[in-house]
Amino acid sequence: MSIQLPILPYSLDALEPQISREALEVHYKKHHQNYVDTLNELIRGTSLEDKSLEEIMFLSFERKQKIHNNACQVWNHTFFWNCLIPSGHEPSKNLTEVIEENFGTVEDLKNEFATAAKALFGSGWVWLVKDKWGKLKVRSLGNAGNPLVDLGEIPLLTCDVWEHAYYLDYKNERAKFLENFWEIVNWEFVEDNLKKENRRMAPQIFQPKSRASVPNEYRM
Ligand SMILES: [Fe+2]
Repeated sequence: MSIQLPILPYSLDALEPQISREALEVHYKKHHQNYVDTLNELIRGTSLEDKSLEEIMFLSFERKQKIHNNACQVWNHTFFWNCLIPSGHEPSKNLTEVIEENFGTVEDLKNEFATAAKALFGSGWVWLVKDKWGKLKVRSLGNAGNPLVDLGEIPLLTCDVWEHAYYLDYKNERAKFLENFWEIVNWEFVEDNLKKENRRMAPQIFQPKSRASVPNEYRM
């Protein structure tokens, strides 16, 4: 069994003008595809070959760094595509209340996200997560960081802040990319992730060094 590039949930030009067709095409068809191909090459003939992507992420943690990084990059990009939607909208009343409880206002969340993105040196990902105590937090994780394996936290939303994610459209202006990102956020996906987590809070499953696999509802 090999890891497949997932189908993009919209057409390549669907996120314009926030993300151009050209930028999305390169990001998805070149970068994401390259992580998939590299991962398949690295696991071929090993005990990880027949494992799911999530199992590979956990089983390679701190032991097989190259495999781990590529597996997380495949997962993170799939999650990122699902965080986006053409012509985004505002979060629902219920989700807005949850955000307000944790950050003050939706605007405060966006500001914290922007600050985290700005502070992240080099490449990485900014995440909205639900921590082990049920609190929503903004996290920035460098390179192929993933909250499931690195922190044992539930990812709700992410923004790819590797330069390849925005350079074609925004050049060096990461902050501008972040600003426009909110216009194409799929808040229903964020809320779905919140519901999943509420249904089954089992932080021990996500302990990074365990060999445990991820429950089905967190698989993509
Ligand atoms: Fe990326």
